[in-house]
Amino acid sequence: MSRISVDRRRILIGATASLVAPPFVYAQAPRVVTPGQTEGPFYPVALPADRDADLVRVQGRAAEAVGQVTHISGRVLDKRGEIVRGAMLEIWQCDANGVYDHPGDSGLRRRDQAFQGYGRSDVDGSGRYSFRTIRPVPYPGRTPHIHFKVHAPGTGVLTTQMYVEGEPLNERDGLLRSIRDPKARQSVIVRLDPAGDIEGGALKGTFDIVLDL
Ligand SMILES: [Fe+2]
Repeated sequence: MSRISVDRRRILIGATASLVAPPFVYAQAPRVVTPGQTEGPFYPVALPADRDADLVRVQGRAAEAVGQVTHISGRVLDKRGEIVRGAMLEIWQCDANGVYDHPGDSGLRRRDQAFQGYGRSDVDGSGRYSFRTIRPVPYPGRTPHIHFKVHAPGTGVLTTQMYVEGEPLNERDGLLRSIRDPKARQSVIVRLDPAGDIEGGALKGTFDIVLDL
């Protein structure tokens, strides 16, 4: 092979590679749509009187909820990464004892009355919601999770669940494993980090929710 043809081949390979994987293709790749998950049996029968975005403090109670304070925030986006305006989110989860504020929970008598159990957050002008809650704990049959319902104008309701990175029970959780696509599954698993910049001793995590828009 002559020297000229080798150089030509190199140029062709380079040109082909840049056609296959130019950086801008990745930048515009659609985001992974947040997978839906079952609502489960513990969505509140009656919403609590205090239903704000701070689940750690119940209005009229001096004590805060038992558990590790955890700030969860994120944006509601469409597949192109544009913010979805006017969205409202609901979350609900069990308390630090693994008990839901629900008549169907057999542990109701030992429920932490200082944990709100349910909260709502509207997104702000930048599409961002935030909750102050406790780090979710496991209960029999489930790895730690927080239930989410996302309401956005002109779309249906997305019901899903958020999980915590590194939880050993994640590998055995039937509902989490039911999300077959690894990227979709990863999209509902959130890393929690120390949140010293927000609140001493607390954790924080980012859960962006991508609607099928
Ligand atoms: Fe649950």
